[in-house]
Amino acid sequence: MPDHIYSRVRFFSGENVPLELHKARMVQRIHLRPVRERLEIINLAGNNTFLLPNRDVFLDMLTDSGVNAMSEAQYAAMLLADDSYAGSETFYRLEKTVREFFGTPYFLPAHQGRACENILATTYVRPGTEVITNFHFTTTKAHITRLGGSVYEAVRDGATVTDSAEPFKGDFDLAKLKARVRKLGRDKIAFVRVELGTNLIGGQPVSLSNLKKVSEFSRKEGLKVVIDASLLADNLYFIKTREKAYERKPLNEIVLEISSHADIVYFSGRKLGCARGGGIAVRSEEDYRLMRDLVPLFEGFLTYGGMSVREMEAINVGLRETLDVDTISQTPIFVEALGEMLTAKGVPVVKPYGGLGCHLDAMKFVPHVPQERYPSGALAVAVYLAGGVRGMERGTLSEQRGEDGSETLSDMELLRLAVPKRVFSLSQMKYVADRVGWLYEHRDLIGGLLFAEEPKTLRFFLGRLKPDGDWQRKLVDAFLKDMPSGL
Ligand code: F0G
Repeated sequence: MPDHIYSRVRFFSGENVPLELHKARMVQRIHLRPVRERLEIINLAGNNTFLLPNRDVFLDMLTDSGVNAMSEAQYAAMLLADDSYAGSETFYRLEKTVREFFGTPYFLPAHQGRACENILATTYVRPGTEVITNFHFTTTKAHITRLGGSVYEAVRDGATVTDSAEPFKGDFDLAKLKARVRKLGRDKIAFVRVELGTNLIGGQPVSLSNLKKVSEFSRKEGLKVVIDASLLADNLYFIKTREKAYERKPLNEIVLEISSHADIVYFSGRKLGCARGGGIAVRSEEDYRLMRDLVPLFEGFLTYGGMSVREMEAINVGLRETLDVDTISQTPIFVEALGEMLTAKGVPVVKPYGGLGCHLDAMKFVPHVPQERYPSGALAVAVYLAGGVRGMERGTLSEQRGEDGSETLSDMELLRLAVPKRVFSLSQMKYVADRVGWLYEHRDLIGGLLFAEEPKTLRFFLGRLKPDGDWQRKLVDAFLKDMPSGL
């Protein structure tokens, strides 16, 4: 029998309920604005959910980054932080934990995940080189291309098929990887990057057996293997529950086995460790020395790397808590519960359910909105209108235009409804399913978006858009017919 509790507690009624294995002892008041106000607010925010003030958001499902609920042990540890610029005791504690956690001798602190990506790209990417990865992430790619490099995706076929039963859609296609390495030759490849688990294809995990093969091949070819472990907590849970060989293996041993396949492991501490920060765990002294001097240059002195020592203490505890399967089960089982409720209403969502959040398939939700009119961005606006729920566009809007100004049409058009760890209740998830279900019944009313102001890099963060036609008013009128209070 598996060693975790959630899978052994059965409701006598037979209902599949994602039981919380924690209780709330600190809460935050949130506000639900009526639909007419929501219409005004989203337009003031340039129809971009990144630009919404949080006070106008009822359920903030934008991301799980830096917004996970922390444990009492994490808050307690923050009081013990040693606030010194150099040689902080807090750093030594975190360094020791990272060493034990990943089994790597060296640790470089950085203020968040993309700061690690900056250091990695600055050190290893040269103009004309390529990073081979299972799937890119927005900030990773931006740092690589900023330095004249490019990204090649060698993800398995079917990774972007939204309705799938494949348990490890984040896996590499070994044949694609091998062919690319043969074609380019070792000198043209900066490193092989394994995103474990993936973000943009819907929180889909990578299996340990696939990682092992990718690593063995890459190392034989003399290539460096870098793991992005930002989403490791969810991926660990899926290895434990979907990969038979690891069902009984303790989580700390699984993590050590994962990192044994890498030369460098970096992470966003806003996700892994449930606080705010980041870091790079390094196996060889040579790599450590190559990257080390960039930390004081970009981040802060080597013993804090731009992080607050309080956050470092919280990450220290958070990493240890990641090794408790009942703790890391909470996001995946809530994603599954929300996914099941939406599926029951016919709403197209990414399957199998992954980590990170529930992902709506905008290509199927609003097939009448062409990709040049940003269907997932439009869906993000519509979901805010329908429920005050803030999701994140993960589609063409999140891509960068080509050199010639043409749109890079994304393989997938997703609206991510992130499920930050231990934040939301089941009734709140029921509310989301209800409002998205209502929206699905009125999906024909949803129209597209056009840019009003388009930044050159990472345009999804700060870009401002306007509706293509007056579909928003019609949607609001339909909502008021069914929900006359506007709430
Ligand atoms: N890698 C992955 C896989 C990520 O998901 C993120 C962040 C980063 C790197 C960058 O880390 O934000 O600390 O600089 N993902 C966030 C998200 C932003 O909302 O999914 P960061």
